[in-house]
Amino acid sequence: MNNYDTTPDRRGTGSIKWDQKPHESAPEQIPLWVADMDFPTPEAVTKAIAERNSHPIFGYTMAGDGYYRELDRWFSRRFDFSIEKESVTISPGIVPAIHAAIRAFTEPGDNVIIQNPVYYPFASAVTDNGRNLMVNNLVERHGYYTMNLQELEEMAASAKLMILCSPHNPVGRVWDPGELEDVARIAEKHKLIVVSDEIHCDLVMPDAPRRHTPFPLLDEGVAEQTVLCTAPSKTFNIPGLATSNIVITDSRLRRRFREELKRSCGDLPNCFGAVACEAAYREGEAWLEETLKYIMGNRDALTLFLKENIPDITVMPLEATYLLWLDVRPILAKSSLTSSQLERLFIDEAGVWLESGSLFGTSGEGFLRANIACSRTLLLQAFEKVAAVLQA
Ligand SMILES: Cc1ncc(COP(=O)(O)O)c(C=O)c1O
Repeated sequence: MNNYDTTPDRRGTGSIKWDQKPHESAPEQIPLWVADMDFPTPEAVTKAIAERNSHPIFGYTMAGDGYYRELDRWFSRRFDFSIEKESVTISPGIVPAIHAAIRAFTEPGDNVIIQNPVYYPFASAVTDNGRNLMVNNLVERHGYYTMNLQELEEMAASAKLMILCSPHNPVGRVWDPGELEDVARIAEKHKLIVVSDEIHCDLVMPDAPRRHTPFPLLDEGVAEQTVLCTAPSKTFNIPGLATSNIVITDSRLRRRFREELKRSCGDLPNCFGAVACEAAYREGEAWLEETLKYIMGNRDALTLFLKENIPDITVMPLEATYLLWLDVRPILAKSSLTSSQLERLFIDEAGVWLESGSLFGTSGEGFLRANIACSRTLLLQAFEKVAAVLQA
């Protein structure tokens, strides 16, 4: 049984979340921004790292058979999705893998589609590599986001690649198989490579209306044009160990991807990341289930708190991830502030660091994102401070 209510003090550990300041003169913050959790990783992971650390040579590392076996077991058991060893390329992160995929499968000036509001490194991965960004905005209706499939189809006719975020950060959707089948149909028809970022696939809320569907499972044809990005990093709170698994079934695409990844950031695993990933997938499931229940409890506690104390902030349905998408449009309408000005106000006046929705694209204006993977006490304390600023 983990104690989620008393989390370790992370200050002074080089934590981006806790040790980085939003700006030079900012007061001390309760950080609810960058996506890592304040919860210790499963004991099986720390044990495996300690064991590896007991050997004093940290040379070039390869993932052993056990690594691929646990990866396959995890995805087979949880998603009925089997992962063949040869289809996997280990990457230090999903963001570098997305950059590599863009360079490997498109040419400068080619159109690449993303679905805003979305994890903002997607947009920069496109533009930093000199490709043309096509934004297929999600549609928000009565507090629920869906895809604009008609526009996606129009854009797909002239695009080479699409970056899908499934489940979706920040809107918290677990796409239903019907929506994904439509994306798959469009991708096949227009020979669109789909980079499916499924880093949040394990973080589906216990009360979500549906399970996560891995994109390549939809059909064999679309699997052949998919770059599936998975990682134990969000699931087990180990992003600092820089290990993710990129699954590409088509051997020709895989070769091109590997060449590009090797050129840009290397494809050898981190020696601690490799043992951590294997141990997490082998022994971390009970920890994950317990952690998800706690996060769901945080979501519900904050939803109630806001209803009772700040009715101008509405929580969008959280089906997956620990990133809550908060509708603050009524506050903006009353104050004439923008989302980023509201972010700044909370940083300076409340000492609470939430992220402006506008970072996730212009369609994120009117929203803030809150990372709720922290102790419930800290979370509610943060929003008490926010409430006090709004009432002042
Ligand atoms: C959708 C998504 N993809 C990728 C990442 C980061 O991946 P990595 O740290 O492996 O580069 C995040 C982190 O928040 C994310 O939300």
